[in-house]
Amino acid sequence: MTVMEAINKVHLQICGISKRFGGLQALEDISIDIQKNTIHGIIGPNGAGKTTLFNIITGQIRPDQGTIKLDGQTLPYLKPNQLVPLGITRTFQNIRLFKEMSVMENVLIGQHVHTPTPILSIILNGSKARYWEEVAKNEAENALKFVGLENKADEMVKNLSYGQQRLVEFARALAAKPKIILLDEPAAGMNPTEKANLLRLVLLLKEKGYTIVLIEHDMKVVMNICQTITVLDHGKKIAEGQPEMIRKHPEVIKAYLGKGV
Ligand SMILES: Nc1ncnc2c1ncn2[C@@H]1O[C@H](COP(=O)(O)OP(=O)(O)OP(=O)(O)O)[C@@H](O)[C@H]1O
Ligand SMILES: [Mg+2]
Repeated sequence: MTVMEAINKVHLQICGISKRFGGLQALEDISIDIQKNTIHGIIGPNGAGKTTLFNIITGQIRPDQGTIKLDGQTLPYLKPNQLVPLGITRTFQNIRLFKEMSVMENVLIGQHVHTPTPILSIILNGSKARYWEEVAKNEAENALKFVGLENKADEMVKNLSYGQQRLVEFARALAAKPKIILLDEPAAGMNPTEKANLLRLVLLLKEKGYTIVLIEHDMKVVMNICQTITVLDHGKKIAEGQPEMIRKHPEVIKAYLGKGV
C-alpha cells in the first residue's frame, strides 16, 4: 500500500481530542484513525470516556482541544443534526425513543434532515410533504426490514421488548443513510439470542460497505468482530491494535484486572 492509499483509507479521524468536566479530565489528547469499511471497537472500563468521545464526534459536546476529520477534511463544530447529511449517525447507550409514538414515527425522525419539510408535516401527512414522505417512509421501511421489525411498524414503542427497542434505535440510525455508524453499547440489556442477532446485523453492515465504530463491554464480541480496537482508560488511550494484540496487552490486562479479558 502506498502512503496515499493508506491516507485514503482513513474515514474518520479523531485528532488530539481533550475534554475536561470541572476537575475531571474525561479525555486527554485522544487520536484515533477509523479506517473505511471496518468495525472499530472502542473499549475501556466504566468512565473511561467512550461515550464522551461519541458525544464529541457527533456534536453533542464541544471538545476543549482537537478536531474531527471526515475523509481528510476538518469538520467545523457542528450540531448533531448537521452531521447526519455528512453521513454520520449514532445510537445512544440509554435508549432515546419516543415511547408513545409508533416504531415507524421514531425511525422517520432519524432522517428528517434529509427531507426539506419539517418532520411534523411528514408525520401529520402534510400535503406539501407527500413526495418526501414517500422517500423517507421507504428508507424507514428498509431499515425496519433490515433489523427484522417490519411487522412492528405501527406498534407503539412502549409495547416492544427492550431488545426490540434497541433495534428501533439501530433502524433509526440506519434510515438516515449513514456511511459511518457509531454504536454505543447496542447490545446492552439484550438476551443472548438478541445479541447474536444484533452482531449478525453489524457484520452484515460491514459487508455492505459501512464503517462501524462500536463501543461494547463484552470482550468476546469485540474480539470476534472488530478489526481494530482502541482501549481507553481514565480518558487516556492505553492501547490500540488488532484483537490478538489487545488481548495480550499488559496495560489492557491491568485496566481490566479481575474483569476477565
Ligand atoms: N456532561 C458531563 N458532565 C460532567 N461529567 C461528565 C459528563 N459526561 C461524562 N462525564 C464524566 O466523564 C467520565 C467519562 O464518562 P463517559 O460517559 O464518557 O464514560 P464511558 O467510558 O462511556 O463509561 P460507561 O462504560 O460507564 O458508559 C465519567 O467520569 C463521567 O462521569
Ligand atoms: Mg458510555
